[in-house]
Amino acid sequence: MATTECLCAEIYSKIDEIVKTKGAEPSSLIEVLHAVQQEIGYLPVPVQQYVADALGLPPGTVESVVSFYSFFTTQPRGRHTVKVCQGTACYVRGGKRVLEVVQKQCGCGVGETSADQRFSVEVVRCIGACGLAPVMTVDEDIYDRVKTTRVTEILEKYE
Ligand code: FES
Repeated sequence: MATTECLCAEIYSKIDEIVKTKGAEPSSLIEVLHAVQQEIGYLPVPVQQYVADALGLPPGTVESVVSFYSFFTTQPRGRHTVKVCQGTACYVRGGKRVLEVVQKQCGCGVGETSADQRFSVEVVRCIGACGLAPVMTVDEDIYDRVKTTRVTEILEKYE
């Protein structure tokens, strides 16, 4: 199979194992994609094509499913996920500015990963901590009443 990215044989053999376990049929598509993403972290186009071949689906079908569901990503993920709340309470209490500073510090936009693969930046609509707005999280850690001046200090804790 011709690919535009170099994917080692080890990855293809893992995909083969997943397909074997989940079933090499079109109805297994979402389960297979989940498992493959868990294994290699994301779903680049060559991987999508490989899965399409393995399940006997047109590549366009796999591409549509990957782009439809927000939990699938075609970009490599950062080692840490930063989520900045943009729900109403957070937004009006400075969440917008916090997001701007996070993006500047990480050097990437929402839905993207920093060049050093350290952070992926996302927004959330409310995490149920509106009384502590503005809120951001890094992996499982929650930071409340975040001021833009604290963003650097927060991010520096994560390698
Ligand atoms: S709006 Fe941010 S926690 Fe609810």
